[in-house]
Amino acid sequence: MSARALVNGHAFPIGKARVAVEDRGLQFGDSLYEVVAFLNGRLFDWDKHLWRLERGAAAIGLAGLPSPAVIAARARRLIRQSRLPDGLLYLQASRGSSRRDHPFPHGVAPTLVMTARRFDFAQRIRQQETGVALLSLPDQRWKRCDIKSTNLLAAVLAKEEVRRAGAFEALFVTEDGVVTEGASTNLWMVGPDGVLRTHPLSAAILPGVSRDTVLELARGAGLPVEERAFTLAEARRAQELFLTSTTGPLLPATRLDGAPVGSGTPGPVARELAARLWGEVSRQTGWRAPR
Ligand code: PDD
Repeated sequence: MSARALVNGHAFPIGKARVAVEDRGLQFGDSLYEVVAFLNGRLFDWDKHLWRLERGAAAIGLAGLPSPAVIAARARRLIRQSRLPDGLLYLQASRGSSRRDHPFPHGVAPTLVMTARRFDFAQRIRQQETGVALLSLPDQRWKRCDIKSTNLLAAVLAKEEVRRAGAFEALFVTEDGVVTEGASTNLWMVGPDGVLRTHPLSAAILPGVSRDTVLELARGAGLPVEERAFTLAEARRAQELFLTSTTGPLLPATRLDGAPVGSGTPGPVARELAARLWGEVSRQTGWRAPR
């Protein structure tokens, strides 16, 4: 079992894989990425990730990527070769390598890098029981957060501040006081009225795959749910706050800026949806949490 990488379809141990110094992903952040969970050797919600990659490629005019079938075959081969049962597939597609110049280069093929690394999902089940802490921070990102680009400096700086504060994730707030999402997660709240809310799809947030799946599960469970933005003031009065992301996949937030959220313990809506989400993971991948 070992972490592996594929660069344009060529396989390497992860430490040996290389891209060119003039790769546009490296110089301009002119690239898109996806992080996909695999459990039991099987990709979770793969089609939704692939759809988002294609949508992003269309949005930034990134042409010449291999077909979805080829990308899928490479991803599965990489996971097989790594012999890792559970982990994260990272996929990055840049506009290729060429002499440094801002406009799109001509006749240059994209660079497609994938890595597979182990990830301990069981650790998340333990975190789900205790809950995590949020730190509110100004949302200083660009105005196309719906594109999953590798321009992650604002997220990197926020995450470092979060780590120094001993918290787990940022709760990004706009100048108008609206909560958008976390630095690498989507955010949800259960209001005093019991309604579940998350920011509607727009350029202000990433259309999270887990967000989409949790919305489906919430609706399927008959929970009252609204895609509506909420403010930091509302978040402070929430009964529950929780996060969703590929690596979460659903974590209750029990503290916000040092104060307890609701009762200060994971709430019933987060518990119910986390159980349903793990159920969906098992349904798609056959994964069972180790006891
Ligand atoms: N982050 N919002 C942002 C800004 C994100 O970067 C992510 C994902 C999400 C959740 O999306 P999804 O449910 O599709 O993982 C929301 C990945 C995991 C990362 O950067 O590591």
